[in-house]
Amino acid sequence: AYQARESLYVLSQFAATFFKEQLWDSDEGRSVGLSYFRERGFREDVIRKFELGYSPDVWDALTQQALNNGYAHQYLEATGLSIRNDKGRVYDRFRGRVMFPIHNFTGRVIGFGGRTLKTEKSVPKYVNSPESDIYHKSNVLYGLFQAKKAIRDANNCYLVEGYADVLSVHQAGVENVVASSGTSLTTEQIRLISRFTENVTILYDGDPAGIKASLRGLDMILEEGMNVKVVSFPDRHDPDSYMHAVGAAAFRTYIEENRKDFIFYKADILLAEAGNDPIKRAGIIRDIVESISKIPDSIKASVFVRECSRLLEVEERILLTELNKMRAARL
Ligand code: CTP
Ligand code: MN
Ligand code: MN
Ligand code: MN
Ligand code: MN
Repeated sequence: AYQARESLYVLSQFAATFFKEQLWDSDEGRSVGLSYFRERGFREDVIRKFELGYSPDVWDALTQQALNNGYAHQYLEATGLSIRNDKGRVYDRFRGRVMFPIHNFTGRVIGFGGRTLKTEKSVPKYVNSPESDIYHKSNVLYGLFQAKKAIRDANNCYLVEGYADVLSVHQAGVENVVASSGTSLTTEQIRLISRFTENVTILYDGDPAGIKASLRGLDMILEEGMNVKVVSFPDRHDPDSYMHAVGAAAFRTYIEENRKDFIFYKADILLAEAGNDPIKRAGIIRDIVESISKIPDSIKASVFVRECSRLLEVEERILLTELNKMRAARL
C-alpha cells in the first residue's frame, strides 16, 4: 500500500511538471494559458510560486507522455488524471484548462484544479481531481504549504473560497491565506489551521452563497475553540476581483479596517434582514446566542455575552439564561 501511494505522489509530481512546462514552453500554453493569467493580473512570480500550469486542448497529451515515461495505466486512473470510457479508451481529465496543483502541507502534489478558459455556461468552470489514496478533499487546504510560515508569523489565517482568491491575496502581500476550494469547510480543515494559529479571518465571496458559507463556517470555527472574524466584500466581489479592482495597498487597508468580530458580522447581516420587526429581532438574539453557546471556553463566551447585550440592548442575565438552556439541550 505504501508503494502504491508513493507511485501516486510521483505521478502527480510528473503531471505538475508536465503542465508547468506546457504553460511556459509550448506555443499553445503561452498564447492561451499564460495570456489568460496575465489578463487576470497574476504576476509571474506568483504563477511560478504556486506552480501553475496548462493542460493542452487535445484528448490525451498527458496520458501519452506519462505512458511513454513508463507510468502504468493503473496509477493514471487511480489519480484521476486519466479517465477510461465505456469503450476502453483512455483520455485526459484536464484538457485546455489552466492548472492549479494542490499540495499537501508538506509540499507534495496530491491533486489538481483546472479552470476553463471558455465563458459558456454549459462548460463547468472548474474540474477537480477526484478523491484518491493520496487526496482526501476534506482534510486539504489549498495554499497551506505556501502559507504555513506566514500563518505562524502573523498568528492569523485568512480563509477564502477559491484558487484565484489565494493567488490574489498572496500577490497583495498577504501570504497567510488558504482556501477550502470546492468543498464546504470541514472540521478537519479547521483543525489543520489550528496547528498553526487559533485565529481565523473569513474572506468569502460577497454573494448570497458566500454569506451563507461565512455564517456556517464561523460557527464551526467557534466550536473548535478558535477565534473568528469576518470581512465582507461589496457588490458581489470576491477577494480576487476586489484586489484587482482596488489594488494591493487599498486591499490590505480594506481587510484591516473591515474585519468584524463574528458577533458584529452576524448582527449586521441579520439585523439588515429583520428591519424593525420585534419578533424577527428576538429571533436574531437567539441566533447570536446560539453561536456564542458553541464557544467551549465559558470565560470567553461570557465576554461575548456582554458584547451581545450591549449591541442588541438586551439584559445580560436574559442572554445567559438562554445560553445555558442551549448548552444543556446539547448535552
Ligand atoms: N469550484 C469548483 N467547481 C466549480 C465551481 C467552483 O470546484 N464548478 C470551487 C473552486 O475551488 C473555486 C471555488 O469553488 O475556486 C469558488 O468558486 P467560485 O467563486 O465560483 O469561483 P472563483 O474561485 O471565484 O473562480 P474564478 O475567479 O476563477 O472565476
Ligand atoms: Mn487513504
Ligand atoms: Mn462564489
Ligand atoms: Mn469566487
Ligand atoms: Mn473569482
